[in-house]
Amino acid sequence: MKRYAHITGWGISVPERVLTNDDLARMVDTTDEWIISRTGIRQRHIAGDGQSTASLGAEAALRALEVAKISPGDVDLIIVSTSSPEHLFPSTASLVQDRIGAGKAGAFDLSAACTGFIIALSMAAQAIQTGSINTALVLGAETLSRLVNWEDRTTCILFGDGAGAFVLQGSEQPGGILSSVMRSDGSGADLLIVPAGGSKLPTTPQTVQDGLHYIHMNGQEVFRFATRVMKQATEEAIELAGMTLDEVDWVIPHQANQRIIETAAKRLKVPMERVVVNLDRYGNTSTASIPLATVEAIRDGRVQSGDRIVFVGFGAGLTWGAAAVLWTGLLAEEKRLIWPYRFYNLYQVYARVRSWVLRFVRFIEGVIWGKRV
Ligand code: ACO
Repeated sequence: MKRYAHITGWGISVPERVLTNDDLARMVDTTDEWIISRTGIRQRHIAGDGQSTASLGAEAALRALEVAKISPGDVDLIIVSTSSPEHLFPSTASLVQDRIGAGKAGAFDLSAACTGFIIALSMAAQAIQTGSINTALVLGAETLSRLVNWEDRTTCILFGDGAGAFVLQGSEQPGGILSSVMRSDGSGADLLIVPAGGSKLPTTPQTVQDGLHYIHMNGQEVFRFATRVMKQATEEAIELAGMTLDEVDWVIPHQANQRIIETAAKRLKVPMERVVVNLDRYGNTSTASIPLATVEAIRDGRVQSGDRIVFVGFGAGLTWGAAAVLWTGLLAEEKRLIWPYRFYNLYQVYARVRSWVLRFVRFIEGVIWGKRV
């Protein structure tokens, strides 16, 4: 029997702190008018001191689980797509797994910049479709504000922080993720890059002095590439899903720039009324932008069960991709009393106690076994 991977839960988390264009105009040589006319962005959310990619991701994940009526213990796999992980290792996904107390889940990070959420969806869907797992949490989570040079007006105006999560579940009912397209062109790696801090250029006082640990971008080249590949990837995903563009209810693109989105929509001949855009309030949240836009469109009643949606994204790598989805929503209207988010604090206490117990057991084992292995 063929298995399908449905999106049955969704949640987002954005920091409370808002940075407006006027705030930025006090930091660098720019204006509200320039930023709006060139990008469409009016404000972005910036992580506070106690917030990070994992904390935003965990909050979004618990909200998504609540919608799906699933407890963290039911999750088989957590994929966190991010370009601003907590560390080079361990993975942010493992930290999210610990923060939500998902005891039986495997976890890994996926690095494909802003395209990452689409690739993570595709990976999770394939694991469900083959029957190797039944329930996955897919996250796009970023705190790019930590990688931005706040003195570089060409990049600092663009990015914002946030996280979005989808729950994917297997079912024999047709629908869910119908197709996906993933592409890369590493010859454009230098167009959008954080040059230092990896194995090629480890962090030294000199790399820090030269600002090589910040985001560097050739905006115009990225702009041209983005408008070209968004059309191509959208059309491929639709064709693979056996749909036509006319049948698509919503195109939900990566939220990088209003002009990129409008150009792509024009080339696809899709009216802007069928394109979900919310970058004016969040800026470019990289891999979190597609779930952020989707969840807003669900909340305001635009996206409904039975809708056909295409997600399309592009980003550093260069990478790009698209996925066609038949939106089903909740699989069954079960009356399960599972409220991970409503009892957020309780879940946090539970997850923290669980984490401490595991650390304590490891400590005791260390005392008993000493240096013996
Ligand atoms: N305020 C005022 N002036 C500015 C600013 C600013 N914030 N930034 C640049 N300028 C100036 C430039 O210095 C330049 O001045 P000059 O003509 O005297 O040299 C002028 O404005 C025009 O600069 P351009 O770079 O040509 O501006 P453009 O219209 O291309 O807009 C932008 C720049 C917004 C960055 C655009 O190129 C863009 O959005 N590109 C795509 C970037 C993107 O989407 N990146 C994310 C990819 S996803 C991921 O993987 C994270």
